Amino acid sequence: MVDEVLAKSFERIGADYDRYRPGFPQASADLIMPTPVRAALDLGAGTGKFTELLQGRAERVVAVEPSSAMLDVLTVKLPAVEALQGSAERIPVGDSSVDVVTVAQALHWFDRVAACAEIARVLVPGGALGLVWNHSDPESAWDRAAHRIAHPAVAEEDGTTSSAADELPGFVHVRHEQIHWTERIRREGYLRRWSTVSSFLVADDDERARMFAEIEAVLDADPETRGRDEFDLSLVTDVFLYRRA
Ligand SMILES: C[S@@+](CC[C@H](N)C(=O)[O-])C[C@H]1O[C@@H](n2cnc3c(N)ncnc32)[C@H](O)[C@@H]1O
Repeated sequence: MVDEVLAKSFERIGADYDRYRPGFPQASADLIMPTPVRAALDLGAGTGKFTELLQGRAERVVAVEPSSAMLDVLTVKLPAVEALQGSAERIPVGDSSVDVVTVAQALHWFDRVAACAEIARVLVPGGALGLVWNHSDPESAWDRAAHRIAHPAVAEEDGTTSSAADELPGFVHVRHEQIHWTERIRREGYLRRWSTVSSFLVADDDERARMFAEIEAVLDADPETRGRDEFDLSLVTDVFLYRRA
């Protein structure tokens, strides 16, 4: 069941999300689109962090996103992309009109059954659906600890945020790959990144201050981060590839 309050939390941010959230490795787009296609659609596109990897891989790139704050950033950053306000449950493009649909860091916000029916409707027969999630590297003790503070329920389960190769109605799962990569990040940027995460966006001031203080304490204690203005953050990008049945 999707938490509507958390899902709508992104309506309030745009520029900060774009500035502080990580991007995605080119290899994640290579797995979904190894050869160029006619049309690709990025669903729940946000500020276009994954959409930008579709440019050059498709003649027509469409971004669909409900939040106008997010779309405003995307249209300035990626003027060649067709940016449309809409949702996964109501995708504003025609039947069988795109070869590939991508969903980065967003499937867990959708009503899955309605979204899968819509994605199947807009895809050509045999079209590809690529699901992508960045998540913390289980080997990184301090980042895992920060995740446990921000997302206690999810972190206790598997240390990731909702990246799972589930059965999707109308789709056949064909591939799952994990890409390990490292991002050099400033401490300030790491902390600000947390302020763009849904649990921080919906928290009250006291709760947010408590979570920040606990994460700062983690950074002050771990030998990889203690006393440093900048450090290496290990990330894992999960890519799940499906075909329209
Ligand atoms: C964590 S952000 C990911 C944004 C972007 N794909 C990225 O990876 O940077 C989740 C996005 O899903 C969008 N979203 C939430 N509910 C949605 C829905 N029902 N349909 C489409 N997008 C939705 C949010 O507005 C937000 O931009």
